[in-house]
Amino acid sequence: MVKVRHWSRPQPFQAEVTEKDLKLVEEDISEDLQPGEVLLESVYLTVDPYMRVHGEPMGEHKTMFGEACLKVIRTRNGEFPLGTLALAFSGWRTHYLSKDGKDLRPIPFDLGSLSPSVTLGVLGMPGLTAYFGFRLLEPKAGEVCVVNGAAGAVGSIVGQLAKHKGLTVIGFAGSDEKCQWLTKELKFDYAFNYKKISLENALKTAAPKGVDVFFDNVGGEFFHQMITKHMAHGGRISICGSISNYNDTEKQKFPQINMDVLMNELTIRGFNILTYAKEFQTAWNEMVPLVKTGELKFKETVFDGFDKMPNAFVGLFKGENTGKAIVKASNYP
Ligand SMILES: NC(=O)c1ccc[n+]([C@@H]2O[C@H](COP(=O)([O-])OP(=O)(O)OC[C@H]3O[C@@H](n4cnc5c(N)ncnc54)[C@H](OP(=O)(O)O)[C@@H]3O)[C@@H](O)[C@H]2O)c1
Repeated sequence: MVKVRHWSRPQPFQAEVTEKDLKLVEEDISEDLQPGEVLLESVYLTVDPYMRVHGEPMGEHKTMFGEACLKVIRTRNGEFPLGTLALAFSGWRTHYLSKDGKDLRPIPFDLGSLSPSVTLGVLGMPGLTAYFGFRLLEPKAGEVCVVNGAAGAVGSIVGQLAKHKGLTVIGFAGSDEKCQWLTKELKFDYAFNYKKISLENALKTAAPKGVDVFFDNVGGEFFHQMITKHMAHGGRISICGSISNYNDTEKQKFPQINMDVLMNELTIRGFNILTYAKEFQTAWNEMVPLVKTGELKFKETVFDGFDKMPNAFVGLFKGENTGKAIVKASNYP
């Protein structure tokens, strides 16, 4: 028998998410596999903001959902030999039993010397979100781009893609250290600590003629102020997320933005990364070489040990991560 640990969420999250909302459960899995079965151990797991707003699954023994990068530790499936790495939506668990391998995905590009954790970060769902969400903005060289949540997994990539394209990039993040990383290492033109400076004062100098493209990870008051005060005529807005609202107990009243959208002829687009699944290869073709040469930089905040899943998750809502929040559950190779 293999001892399997997984995190469940017995009750719905109440307002601010806490570590106590999650419960560690132990189960046994038989090591005697049937033909076609693959037993894997999680190597890296991801925690993402969407896990806060996703309704299911809930219950004492239901595993929190999420993607992981796993290694094969027992197999009766020729497509997944011992030691192979694979990706799966296997949830917050130390081990996963695949019945036929159909729910496993091989690593979709050559890792080279990169850590397998990149499959959950810069070259995984968050990096792809940055790529397709930024493309939606139809950005042009010379334009001004604002991104919030700028030192996070998605935002840090958006800003760099915008720099590559020749835009002036203005990032907003929640600490001076994060802002320094954005300007010094990622070469953002400006980075502001939104806890210390108002949007008004920041953009007075950084974008005196208004903002052409706005990639919104935060929503709420930031979104409202951008639409009503800071967009240039013909500006485009990509609504990626709204993390400032995920802990709200009541649905926000929609802000009065109609006349601002009309007068400035703004375009506001929401998107879900899963819609672009058929095009992921296009993004990897572009991004993998950039990451390997270091032209596209990334950072990971790695939490060591499967027990740290709740800490890593709750930390997302307190700004504890810079770049991608990752949990390292076991060693590879
Ligand atoms: N549309 C899609 O398909 C899609 C896909 C992936 C992600 N998303 C969304 O994209 C956004 C970013 O995701 P991510 O994975 O890159 O997360 P992340 O930025 O790596 O982590 C969350 C960050 O959000 C900031 N934050 C937390 N609470 C905040 C608040 N109340 N106000 C302002 N900032 C706050 C914190 O940074 P600070 O220190 O800067 O506050 C924190 O580090 C999220 O809204 C997520 O839901 C959408």
